[in-house]
Amino acid sequence: MKLYETLAAELAQSIQDGVLRMGDRLPSVRQASTSRAVSPSTVFQAYYLLEARGLIRARERSGYYVAGAAQKLPPEPEQASQPDEASSPVDISERVFEVLESAKMRDLVPFGSAFPSPLLFPMARLARAMASSVQQLDPWSAVDDLTPGNPQLRRQIALRYLADGLHIHSDEIVITNGALDALNLCLGAVTRPGDAVLVESPTFYAALQALERNSLHAIEVPTHPREGIDLAALARAIERHQPKACWLMSTFQNPLGSLMPDEKKRDLVKLLTQHEIPLIEDDVYGELYFGDKRPMPAKAYDSKGLVMHCSSFSKCLAPGYRVGWAAPGRFTRAVARHKLTTTLAASAPAQAALATYLEKGGYDKHLRQLRHTLSVQQTLFMEAIARYFPPGTQATRPKGGYFLWLELPAEVNALELHRQALALGISIAPGPIFSAHHGFTNCIRLNYGHAWDERSETALATLGALVQKMV
Ligand SMILES: Cc1ncc(COP(=O)(O)O)c(C=O)c1O
Repeated sequence: MKLYETLAAELAQSIQDGVLRMGDRLPSVRQASTSRAVSPSTVFQAYYLLEARGLIRARERSGYYVAGAAQKLPPEPEQASQPDEASSPVDISERVFEVLESAKMRDLVPFGSAFPSPLLFPMARLARAMASSVQQLDPWSAVDDLTPGNPQLRRQIALRYLADGLHIHSDEIVITNGALDALNLCLGAVTRPGDAVLVESPTFYAALQALERNSLHAIEVPTHPREGIDLAALARAIERHQPKACWLMSTFQNPLGSLMPDEKKRDLVKLLTQHEIPLIEDDVYGELYFGDKRPMPAKAYDSKGLVMHCSSFSKCLAPGYRVGWAAPGRFTRAVARHKLTTTLAASAPAQAALATYLEKGGYDKHLRQLRHTLSVQQTLFMEAIARYFPPGTQATRPKGGYFLWLELPAEVNALELHRQALALGISIAPGPIFSAHHGFTNCIRLNYGHAWDERSETALATLGALVQKMV
């Protein structure tokens, strides 16, 4: 247990035992940090955790107070998925487009959306960074910022990794139009039509769409809802299919929210390296952790340049700016050339704006606020699911990101639920869009990255009632 978790557990115990009662004020952060000889940030983390669990509440300018007993949460799914492990061509795009189209409508309750609320981002500060950087933009930036991209921005990205203990040289960073562009470029650099690619089960639908578009075969590998891809099953799939790449998310996987433990990430890279298989690592949610430290990506364990790490600012800072990057190890030149011959470069003003924003500071403060908001919203969502969904409903409990994966009772048809919910103004992401084999028929992904209010509570109650009718 981390220090802040121990402190949170002790305080939770005091609340449970009635030593601290509803309405009691907790010691101030300064008092608690002095009396327990821990840093103020440890106390903050512990209080955030207790707040996320609904045990304490912050009152403006007055501190933290005991809120009451912990609410019930739905049980977590414990079984890894059991996909059909045969290699198969992919035919999923049509259904995904259908679902995504509906998730775009503004007046729907956006549980099916892939994006957090745009209101969570520092748009005004970004706009100021954009205005000042565009005013000072060197006319030659149109040339200088061509792929691999704006040097200041690449340096800022490398510095952020360095601060987290990960050495990625700015020369390895190729700026792209968001993470999806980076992922597609990496896939294109290491595969040819007809090749087999390892993916998680369930997996992010855009990975399946990319395989479909490139006439690649998907090999779906069993994946645990908490700890990620099953390495024994991965080893078997490698022997059986001789895949040319593996595409996965080791941190806050979409849609499960799973987080591979560090040791498992290390073993994953070792296994793939033994077979010379490049790993395309999608790390778009890596910054959205609820613990005290950023989980290291699999890239941290790569010594052979086989991990092609991809991320972006879309989910944590600047949605719509379409700026992301790849750090593709030994494939850097291939990825940069691929970028040059497809879309040439990312937008120079958007790159400059982000470089200016990062240089000015304030990003970490924004991230702390964002993580806190998301972790509190996750708890509120989970508590509501426990209230409104029928017994037999299980929900993952991710330690970051903004998705929950629900396994509903077996009789539930997620596609039918999607249709019925849509008719009532609620979008959800049905399980079958996350599998080439159209599995997960009784599962859904819910987005808790939008403000929790009466409308979302009513929508979740309506969804729970629809599920109830199907069982
Ligand atoms: C897992 C995952 N990877 C990549 C992306 C795409 O990121 P970007 O918007 O930076 O292209 C998304 C967006 O939904 C995503 O959920």
